[in-house]
Amino acid sequence: MRLRLTLNGNRVTASIAPEATLLEVLRQEFGVFGVKHGCETGECGACTVLLDGEPVNSCVMLAAQADGKEITTIESVGQHPEQGWRLTAGLDPLQQAFVETGAIQCGFCTPAMILSARALLAENPEPAEADVRAALSGVLCRCTGYLKPVQAILRAAAVLRGEEVPPIAGTLAPTMDLGVAPQAEELPGAAGTPEVLTRTGILPQMRVTTEARTWSTVGRPEPKVDAVKLAQGKPAFTADIEMRGMLVAKVLHSPHAHARIKRISAGKARALAGVAAVLTWKDIPRVVYSTAGQSDPIPGPLDMFSLDEKVRFVGDRVAFVAAESEAIAEQALALIEVEYEVLPAILDPQQAMAEGAPVIHDEPEYVPFGESDPSRNRAAHIHIDIGDVEKGMAAADEIFEETYEVPKVQQASIEPHVVITYWDEDDRLVIRTSTQVPFHVRRQLAPVLGLPPKRIRVIKPRIGGGFGGKQEVMVEDVAAHLTIATGRPVRFETTRAEEFTFARSRHPMRIRMRTGVRRDGTITANEMTVLSDTGAYGCHALTVAGNTGHKAMALYVGDGEYRKSPNIRFHADVVYTNTPPAGAFRGYGVPQGFWPVERHMERITRALGLDPLEFRLKNAVRLGELQPFSTAWSEGREPRPETIQSCGLEECVAQGAAAIGWDDKYGNSRWRRVAGKPHLRRGIGVATVMQGTAIPYLDMGGASLKINDDGSFNLLVGATDLGTGSDTVLGQQAAEVLGVPLEDVIVYSSDTDFTPFDKGAYASSTTYISGAAVVQAAEKVAERIRLRAARMLSEQIGKKVRPTAVRLAHRQAWAPDGSSVTLAEIALDSLHHQDQEQIMAVGSYVSPVSPPPFAAQFAEVTVDTETGAVRVDRLVMAVDSGVIINPLTASGQVEGGMTQALGYAVCEEMTYDSEGRPRETSFADYHIFQAHEMPELQTIFVETVEPSHPFGVKAVAEIPMDGVAPAVGNAVLDACGADVLKAPITPERVWRALQGQRSAVSGQPSAKTGRG
Ligand code: FES
Ligand code: FES
Repeated sequence: MRLRLTLNGNRVTASIAPEATLLEVLRQEFGVFGVKHGCETGECGACTVLLDGEPVNSCVMLAAQADGKEITTIESVGQHPEQGWRLTAGLDPLQQAFVETGAIQCGFCTPAMILSARALLAENPEPAEADVRAALSGVLCRCTGYLKPVQAILRAAAVLRGEEVPPIAGTLAPTMDLGVAPQAEELPGAAGTPEVLTRTGILPQMRVTTEARTWSTVGRPEPKVDAVKLAQGKPAFTADIEMRGMLVAKVLHSPHAHARIKRISAGKARALAGVAAVLTWKDIPRVVYSTAGQSDPIPGPLDMFSLDEKVRFVGDRVAFVAAESEAIAEQALALIEVEYEVLPAILDPQQAMAEGAPVIHDEPEYVPFGESDPSRNRAAHIHIDIGDVEKGMAAADEIFEETYEVPKVQQASIEPHVVITYWDEDDRLVIRTSTQVPFHVRRQLAPVLGLPPKRIRVIKPRIGGGFGGKQEVMVEDVAAHLTIATGRPVRFETTRAEEFTFARSRHPMRIRMRTGVRRDGTITANEMTVLSDTGAYGCHALTVAGNTGHKAMALYVGDGEYRKSPNIRFHADVVYTNTPPAGAFRGYGVPQGFWPVERHMERITRALGLDPLEFRLKNAVRLGELQPFSTAWSEGREPRPETIQSCGLEECVAQGAAAIGWDDKYGNSRWRRVAGKPHLRRGIGVATVMQGTAIPYLDMGGASLKINDDGSFNLLVGATDLGTGSDTVLGQQAAEVLGVPLEDVIVYSSDTDFTPFDKGAYASSTTYISGAAVVQAAEKVAERIRLRAARMLSEQIGKKVRPTAVRLAHRQAWAPDGSSVTLAEIALDSLHHQDQEQIMAVGSYVSPVSPPPFAAQFAEVTVDTETGAVRVDRLVMAVDSGVIINPLTASGQVEGGMTQALGYAVCEEMTYDSEGRPRETSFADYHIFQAHEMPELQTIFVETVEPSHPFGVKAVAEIPMDGVAPAVGNAVLDACGADVLKAPITPERVWRALQGQRSAVSGQPSAKTGRG
């Protein structure tokens, strides 16, 4: 049919299929790539456009329904302020506010948010916060926690009303002393009205170190270097290109949890018009590999094939199809004939290692790692003994034992997995992919595809969120095999249902804690026994479980004599089951560990009548002490002891407690009651946590830097900004060394042909590892600049200037007498005038240590004791992440991380029926928090200077995942006595715990609590 639209003010027409959605037509016919695909069911809002001024989801609307209407997309909103000689009005105030406030992380949801806000402000120029949150409620964001987008819209509304708004840097809360943290409503930028959640100012509350105050770019709330293009919805993501002749790939998935393919016939599918290729296990080489994107050698078993004659979970791959269109590819899938021999399946990890259990990996090509034993369905095994646990237990007055559980949850990045592959003009295979690990993709896929790595180029465009899910080499081989088979470009993009059934997830675990404690609160021994379920493949099986112990069990060493010689035991079995594989997910095993550790600590404090904050700090590891696990374990490699050289935990506890009003609320039975609502109870809880920063002696980051003839710089990094702002903080570190503003550093990441190697975005390492590489490259470049500047300045002032006396600042090189030459003059001199050279350098860095960030997480809840419903009212997190390079991006990480962790705490869980079929396959079944459901979020940074990094930084990205669930669990216990041992804390579990309490369940920690 013929479609007529007014698209962004222009009359357009197209010939379309009647069943085509508006989203497909906008992207494929009109090249409007600011409209994003995040699902197919109208639930994520990424595809929002304005239809006659009203926001609609274009993925669930037929294009035909839009015939004759006016469609507005982000492409018509604002323009880049610099367009050469053509003057522009610049960005729209909404875009400007999103850029300035740090409301953009990955930016995949940003066009939808801006369009929704535009519709709101057109109707209501003076919206209350609740109006803004309601307007954003149809757009899911997995990155930001919605705080900064709400602030951005309120700010833009004020600008549009002609009001003055303060500069963003002015909203940074001043340095304060311990114990005098202002309440949120006292902070600069506070709105201060009781109905307003967004009270904390755009920037976080910070205790700034002396060092950071002397820097000019490091420590400043610089807008992200990619924010302007993302605010404009530019075609920056993997799927935002069209190529002539590009095919669409689809995967046939297994309907059985465990089966052998007895017969497979693709003849009918191949015969279908428009089908370019169908591949089954018979058509491609059988190469065993791991999809876990990790450094060489991969610390896990090789147990996966691109296609196999056996399927191991509902959703496993059976065949690949490439066709001219998605509809044809879907038809072809239905024509593939498969006969299965259904095998007995293991769905419960407890059964996996039982005698006579079905063996999931019986393939002869299986390559074990460490103690993996496929004959017993064991993907990995860890046993760590530090000190003498039994002696420690014998020295305890009481031994506390309990079993806890954490669920399987999904990363749920709004951009699904997506890849485009093609042969370039040199017949090299180009893989354009939304990955966190471009260099690992190239190395790991080369043998699978039968190509040497040098014949592969991996390009990583902007990533629409990853959170560990894209640390998996999971989709690239599908498209690549089909490009090899057809010679044509191929796009493979997962559906949301595939994300839930076929992508990776967080390892669910059952964890037994056993802790010996003296009556004075000294921990004498601590033991954790983990059963982790890796699903059908062992991706990250060993390292995730290792991290569970390495970080969560390292925090509490005990006091007194135990500080020097703690007694800690960690035992983990990671087993295969016939469920979708787990993998990397932000926090990487540590959130799994802190749920039991911090729930357990809370129960101990209550049983012994101790103060929860004092008990934790009494036993927590301190500055100058050994990270106990560093003496015993290093991901299957030789351990090297590490001393903690920066630790702000005590101050984090004090600042967080002051901010949430701990002293007034904890143990206050009057505060717990809600006036006029006897069924409601308030509660407050805490969890203290630690993480790591990178993997020592293994993970490397590289950077290259060159000067241009206007004195600007190109910084090329292999590091992978997946929305976290790493390009920005790397640019800031280079700018600081070079004495230029951030805008003079053009950052590019990442492309295996052009950027130096970097292990990729994981283990919270980019700011630290890649940052140190950037600083190294920048210092080499600065040295060359000083040399040349010294000669130029000497000639200029007629007196010898030593290179070491030259200072770089404000785009100039300064002599001690105040004379200067600009960097542009130096660049012109070096490139065109005298002793020509390209001033450039590379840097690379591997850390010998993994300095832990620390944090205190506080939560306030209200529990309905009749229904078990929990409302989280407030989350306050005080974090020691070393020096904060950029408070805007770092606080965005904390807010977004706390929000993901909130889902882990109260509602996110992937479950399976008795046949192993997933129950949650869409955002309708799997709830992630929406803008109008959020509690108040408050971030406090307690800066310390980590001496192992040139700017004193530690990681920030993962630690916000660790403490929310146990803090909420502890707050629920505080509110009503419901002692929920299994996360998430659903109304049913709280209700059951309360029923247990009512029927006077006895046992630890007290008869006043009930378990769930
Ligand atoms: S892509 Fe349309 S709502 Fe998700
Ligand atoms: S910034 Fe919203 S999904 Fe990433």
